Amino acid sequence: QDIDVKSLVDLAVSAAREAGALARDRRRAVERMTVAATKSTPTDVVTESDTAAEQLIRERLLAARPGDAVHGEEGGHSDGESGVVWIVDPIDGTVNYLYGIPQYAVSIALQVSGVVEGGVVYNPATEETWTAIRGAGAQLNAEPIAVSGCADLSLALVGTGFGYDASRRARQAAVVADLVPVVRDIRRAGSAALDLCAVASGRLDAYYERGLNPWDRAAGALIAEEAGAFVGGLHGQPPSDSMTLAASPAIADDLRALLERLGADRD
Ligand code: IPD
Repeated sequence: QDIDVKSLVDLAVSAAREAGALARDRRRAVERMTVAATKSTPTDVVTESDTAAEQLIRERLLAARPGDAVHGEEGGHSDGESGVVWIVDPIDGTVNYLYGIPQYAVSIALQVSGVVEGGVVYNPATEETWTAIRGAGAQLNAEPIAVSGCADLSLALVGTGFGYDASRRARQAAVVADLVPVVRDIRRAGSAALDLCAVASGRLDAYYERGLNPWDRAAGALIAEEAGAFVGGLHGQPPSDSMTLAASPAIADDLRALLERLGADRD
């Protein structure tokens, strides 16, 4: 059947804004947030807001589209028969959220027949909404956006992130130690979805991370790509759990070669 991607992205925007407002209001209501559960390590946390926000998103999406599947960070996978899969991270940047740092986001991607066709990332603290439709460009609060155009890696502001596993973190830190002297600077802002949107908006010249999950990157990767970024792995393959790199195109080859030399996609 014909799928109207624009109307589905609009649906995701309204679900993301509603869930983001819920998370923001819950965070503002308390001075200290408590951890509801831990996942892969004691520092990989879930708050009750993650669960409540994902529940709300599921309800809104499935009320409008009962035949769709949902793949969520907290609630797992629910099947559907329409061919549409929603990939949902209710709060990307949960550690920032826990500490009250206003750098976290709701991320919702729309996948049709295995291809991400639309993406929404909403930062409730700044009320910024990034959207993209495959082939139709990327927008921030409904205005078109584009990557920085940086053409010199030594002048590039490069974002990255670290996983929760200790030995992987040690390896990632060693890579960063070798990058710091050869780029403008490094940022570890704490939300992969917002890092990818930062590349899309020219707030970072590039971003890379090993070990992301699909819900961390699916929407942001499309937004970065539609804003003109190179998005992929280190060897021209699609972005994956192993490596997600987004860069202003003129520095992408140099950064890929450097990260490859430093073994950034190995543990
Ligand atoms: C995390 C954030 C973080 C990245 C981690 C992710 P979560 O997602 O995106 O920036 O470095 O790899 O797991 O756990 O806050 O949804």
